[in-house]
Amino acid sequence: MGIVVRITALKANFPLQIAIPSLICWLSRSFELHFNPAFMSIHRDVKRVTTHTLAEMKEAGEKISMLTAYDYTMAKLLDRAGVDVLLVGDSASNVMAGHETTLPITLDQMIYHASAVVRAVQRALVVVDLPFGSYQGNSKEALQSTVRIMKEAGAHAVKLEGGREVVESIVRILTAGVPVMGHLGLTPQSIYKFGTYSVRAREEAEAERLMEDATALQKAGCFALVLEKIPSVLAAKVASSVQIPVIGIGAGSGVDGQVLVMHDMLGLNSDFSPRFLRRYLQLDQAILEAVAHYVSDVRSGDFPSASEQY
Ligand code: KIV
Repeated sequence: MGIVVRITALKANFPLQIAIPSLICWLSRSFELHFNPAFMSIHRDVKRVTTHTLAEMKEAGEKISMLTAYDYTMAKLLDRAGVDVLLVGDSASNVMAGHETTLPITLDQMIYHASAVVRAVQRALVVVDLPFGSYQGNSKEALQSTVRIMKEAGAHAVKLEGGREVVESIVRILTAGVPVMGHLGLTPQSIYKFGTYSVRAREEAEAERLMEDATALQKAGCFALVLEKIPSVLAAKVASSVQIPVIGIGAGSGVDGQVLVMHDMLGLNSDFSPRFLRRYLQLDQAILEAVAHYVSDVRSGDFPSASEQY
């Protein structure tokens, strides 16, 4: 059924030279997912997602899925579910540590989160954010921070925020053989410059600058770009003008993939409801109910029962 639908859709929308590689890619990925050792609980070789896989996915018109992850247990589940890229985002500063912004999180803390995620993952590409203050000084500092992330956490790539102003750092990191993901649009590390978390690049001048920055990041050698909270028309224009995959968050459907913060899409933060967010679970409610039930069972003496003790 899935194949029939896919073939019909491909026939309708794509010429054969795009449709056939796309179909082959989908079939192999589908095979990979269903026979993934993680799903079968048998430890065999898994085909890892690499930066090349993502480039091939863009070429074949296959969308890339990315989610944030910060700990071993959740990362293991997200990897088993088939997420292509796990981002150890500096949003850990908000969702894990309760800070108002991403600025306070340190390089040591990012390495702690990243190493837990890397230990959990068999298939996904693990990208780690360079935190605020660990790369803006100069390109040498950017490389030193990257080396720590690669050595101490075992990450596969790093991400940093900014356009032309970080090109020198990107080039230096790449000379050490580390893949770099760019991040444009709403860049939360610059929140005090922006003053608000609202949509960026609505004005023509900022949109033009963003377009130039995207080209500059591609030219510098970034393997992919995140576009955060910008108009969907602009994001689609960027995605079709650069060859590297463009992954959006609040950037519409015309890009090559999507990323969400795991806590938001699982409904752990009900007080955060931007328009771009789709909640796939209401986990806060489920947890509240489960924990309230536990508290009541403890208080009443119902837990533990005779069969739950030695
Ligand atoms: O830190 C993060 O979670 C991010 C995503 C919003 C892309 O950078």
